[in-house]
Amino acid sequence: MLETPEAAVEVDPAFRADVLRGLAQPVPAIPARWLYDRRGSELFDEITRLPAYYPTRTETALLETVMVDLPSYVAPGGAVVEFGAGAATKTPLLLDAVKPKAYVPIDISGEYLEASAAVVDADHARVAVHPVVGDFTQPVDLPGEIDGLDRLGFFPGSTIGNFVPKSAARLLGHFRDILGTGSKLLIGMDRIKPVDRLIAAYNDPEGITAEFNLNLLQRINRELDADIPIDAFRHEARWADMLGRIEMHLVATRDVEFTIHGQRFAFSAGQSIHTENSHKYGQRGARLLLLAGGWTPITEWLAPHEAFVIILCEALPDRFAP
Ligand code: AVI
Repeated sequence: MLETPEAAVEVDPAFRADVLRGLAQPVPAIPARWLYDRRGSELFDEITRLPAYYPTRTETALLETVMVDLPSYVAPGGAVVEFGAGAATKTPLLLDAVKPKAYVPIDISGEYLEASAAVVDADHARVAVHPVVGDFTQPVDLPGEIDGLDRLGFFPGSTIGNFVPKSAARLLGHFRDILGTGSKLLIGMDRIKPVDRLIAAYNDPEGITAEFNLNLLQRINRELDADIPIDAFRHEARWADMLGRIEMHLVATRDVEFTIHGQRFAFSAGQSIHTENSHKYGQRGARLLLLAGGWTPITEWLAPHEAFVIILCEALPDRFAP
């Protein structure tokens, strides 16, 4: 009798290569982007609504103030280019404030993009929406329809914090290349604060962040022909003070061995897999990072207790002398 084959799981060769390579490093680590499969994205969505996870609600509340002031810095009739389209709740506020002619959300997920573009389309009849499916860390062609329009980039969510400073500066330079000299960028960045508050945001009592982190191992088992015993790992959030960042790790609770795609791995109790960084910035550090990426800060808005900052900056022409 013929057996019905199980639905084939599509293997992303880049995922497999990153996992096999990352776990073989002296400090085992897997790039954070692989946390966001469908389940991971759902869990992240839940995280943004947790009482302990302050960044999303703090930034959203701060945006209300930003939007009152923004029209004095940004003329109407330009183009808003959003890097990542997951912020459908924040975008309408921005479009209402700056009244652009066009909105260009760029996201790797066509599904997310369609959903957010549809929300904006329905509520902003005068704004032409031109979604671009693509990875904003890679070269992106902006639609010809926005040629000649002033551009405002939007990068909320403190996503810049997930890049180590060297890559963050490179990414900011890349945004500058995409948007062009004379454009502006509105960016959200999380601030350094008391360690217990930071740790709580990444190790919530509900255990959702732990589930989010552990889902990476489940994803490896689901997609990469692996047999990792999930219960042999626990989630840990650490503050690395010298580096100014929260690190997420998956720590082995006992000696454990497993196989991924035919390759054998052994972890001893206490050894960890580093899965994400979330950098936090002080006032000068945030401005310096922007300058290193080719953006000159114009003004900034601070949330109560200096919990979060939104900075407006500009891509000034390169100067020959000071
Ligand atoms: C997406 N990013 C800004 C989140 C952060 O806070 O760094 C990802 C996250 N990881 C665990 N909780 C939230």
